[in-house]
Amino acid sequence: AIDIEKLRALTGAITLDPGYKNSGSCKSDITFLDGEEGILRYRGYAIEDLAEKADFLEVSYLVIFGELPTKEQLEQFENDIRKYTLVNEEMKNIIDGFPKTAHPMGVLSSLTSALTAFNPKVVNVENEKEMYEAVCKTMAKFLVIATWTYRKMMGYPLNYYDNTKGYVENFMHLMFELPTGPYKQNQVVIDALDKLFILHADHEQNCSTSTVRIVGSSHAGLFASISAGVSALWGPLHGGANQAVLEMLEDIQKDGGDADKYLAKAKDKDDPFRLMGFGHRVYKNFDPRAKIIKKAADEVLATLGVNDPILQIAKKLEESALVDEYFVSRKLYPNVDFYSGIIYRALGIPTDMFTVLFAIGRLPGWIAQWKEMRVNKEPIGRPRQVYTGHPLRDFVAMDKR
Ligand code: ACO
Repeated sequence: AIDIEKLRALTGAITLDPGYKNSGSCKSDITFLDGEEGILRYRGYAIEDLAEKADFLEVSYLVIFGELPTKEQLEQFENDIRKYTLVNEEMKNIIDGFPKTAHPMGVLSSLTSALTAFNPKVVNVENEKEMYEAVCKTMAKFLVIATWTYRKMMGYPLNYYDNTKGYVENFMHLMFELPTGPYKQNQVVIDALDKLFILHADHEQNCSTSTVRIVGSSHAGLFASISAGVSALWGPLHGGANQAVLEMLEDIQKDGGDADKYLAKAKDKDDPFRLMGFGHRVYKNFDPRAKIIKKAADEVLATLGVNDPILQIAKKLEESALVDEYFVSRKLYPNVDFYSGIIYRALGIPTDMFTVLFAIGRLPGWIAQWKEMRVNKEPIGRPRQVYTGHPLRDFVAMDKR
């Protein structure tokens, strides 16, 4: 085998791979992904089976701890999460400092980082017990603060976790319950959200997960690393795509609803416009999550009786792109975000919150990857570069510039 360190010392050679299109950054036991075949598995279990047969906390346990939980382990996990759902009241002062117009992802990233100040033990995890506590605390508090970003945006009083309800049910309660009357839960909505969270739970070394790992590799704490992951997820080329999809569909509608016109724009190389929700860095055949979600989207829309012109535009775009030479030859298929945005809209979730929902779903993956990196004692992440700037130059005095 070639000793890369020695080779570099001898030759000064650097592997240049912008965007890390073909570079592995770690070994991982968590998620298997085959982009050509459209396969996604968590800990060896097919995503199709997990989405159909398990619930989100069960899958979170699997992703984080490596095995499907027994009934007792799952109950224990859920109870241990409940223990930590109270968020320090002083966090409210931080929320109050944000303008109502602040994007919830920015607020979420800041609040996640701020959790460090109130939970110093989550920074220095020293043994298995502390690791387990850190996992439960993160699962508990992140859900609550994620919904608080919405309550702040709306000017509503902040809600507390209800220990008589399940995790996903609590999401709806925390978001929508008002002091004026109880929020009526809808099982179709809960099931659809549960499925969406499962489908987002991990996706190996994507942009936000790599961010979590690289920040954590300096031994920054779990909250700080996840806060960085939230920021990475926010961008429209990553998690922000689900919001961008809906905004794009709204723009098309305002502009007369002509999907073909926007398809042509996306193909025009002089136009920076891209069809949001199409294409994927690793899936070059189809996104297996998109297949499951498309079915769920159809069920949700039929059950809730939603008749939304925006969704007609989405259908038209999907049908046209699937037979268009430009999209077919570049293997650009609708990705998970194309359909998740559509379901979120049908469930009455405001557009600005779409990426926050992605973050809630991705949380177990971020935790699992951070934990794996720490347990494996991985070295600090420190990519190299190929310098393309000036050679040595003589300093120029101020009066000569
Ligand atoms: N619309 C139009 N053309 C596109 C699109 C698109 N959505 N995506 C890629 N292309 C074209 C590119 O212009 C390029 O064409 P060329 O070969 O003629 O130059 C070719 O397809 C390859 O595109 P790259 O940008 O090189 O592919 P990359 O793997 O780097 O990017 C990405 C993948 C970022 C997802 C891209 O497809 C994209 O921007 N999609 C829209 C945003 C989106 O939906 N993101 C969500 C990703 S899924 C997730 O994060 C869960």
